[in-house]
Amino acid sequence: MLIKKPADIRPSEITDPVAYAGRRAFLQAAAALGVGMVAGPAAALVKVPGKGEAMAGLVDTPYGDELELTGYEHVTGYNNFYEFGTGKDDPARNAHTLQTRPWSIVVDGECEAPGEIGIEDILKAFPQEERIYRLRCVEAWAMVVPWVGFPLGSLLGRFKPTSKANYVAFETLVDPQQMPGQRRAVLDWPYREGLRMDEAMHPLTILATGLYGELLPNQNGAPLRLVVPWKYGFKSIKSIVRISFSQTLPETTWWKLAPHEYGFYANVNPGVDHPRWSQARHRLIGEGLFSSKHSTQMFNGYADEVADLYRGMDLAKFY
Ligand code: MTE
Repeated sequence: MLIKKPADIRPSEITDPVAYAGRRAFLQAAAALGVGMVAGPAAALVKVPGKGEAMAGLVDTPYGDELELTGYEHVTGYNNFYEFGTGKDDPARNAHTLQTRPWSIVVDGECEAPGEIGIEDILKAFPQEERIYRLRCVEAWAMVVPWVGFPLGSLLGRFKPTSKANYVAFETLVDPQQMPGQRRAVLDWPYREGLRMDEAMHPLTILATGLYGELLPNQNGAPLRLVVPWKYGFKSIKSIVRISFSQTLPETTWWKLAPHEYGFYANVNPGVDHPRWSQARHRLIGEGLFSSKHSTQMFNGYADEVADLYRGMDLAKFY
């Protein structure tokens, strides 16, 4: 959707409603102001100019247009990124020490064309799309984020995975100078995640390079992080430096640390409780601690798209 604005409306006058009232409310407000809207492939999309570096030439997609957005301040101020501390506000405070340029990602393992690709080449080579996805975390909180990125599968294909590539493993940077949280052994660094190959190639799975029309803020996993909308947030590994095709199931950080609490699959499933809390309901960040909770949907609401991947599996066993 393209939002045309009259020349006399400054960007700052239209961004706060997007950030704080949600996209739909913003569109309604824009309509009330007589601001025209036409369909188009390269849309104005959801942007918060002036906070981070704006991304040009974004491609709109139909994903999530109907969802209410979580405000930018919450998306970038309430985070999990243990490399910068275990408190939810630690990453926003501490992640400025991360150097995201130059940055490159090694791709290796079961593939015919292993190699390394720089973030600038990634930004040039793959059209950056905006997709509004829910992110549901295990501690019963959720956000709706206008991510910018591109399908992981389009990057993976370039490295020609072999028929032995059953899984894809991911690793975050290790550098205690830049990531002060790594000076403590709260996790077994590097942070690691993994997907089955068909999950990795699914079109909903993206590598995110931005949010709200800007390059990813450091606390959200700059310059490149995974987003898998039907899985719990911990699968969304941040600041990736290595992607490896593997024949065998890769070890992943939380699963290794507490296998009875965090499974490899980590599919959002209201029917399978975490041992210490229910997974059936969640609170949307930004709505306040005393707001009513929302019912969690199977696969985070993406069942039509992904349930077939798990046909015949006992999802209480493979959680
Ligand atoms: N990636 C790394 N490298 N380190 C982390 O601690 N936390 C995960 C995931 N990716 C984490 C990570 C968890 S538990 C969640 S819920 C999401 O990031 C949070 O993403 P957000 O802060 O962008 O909302």
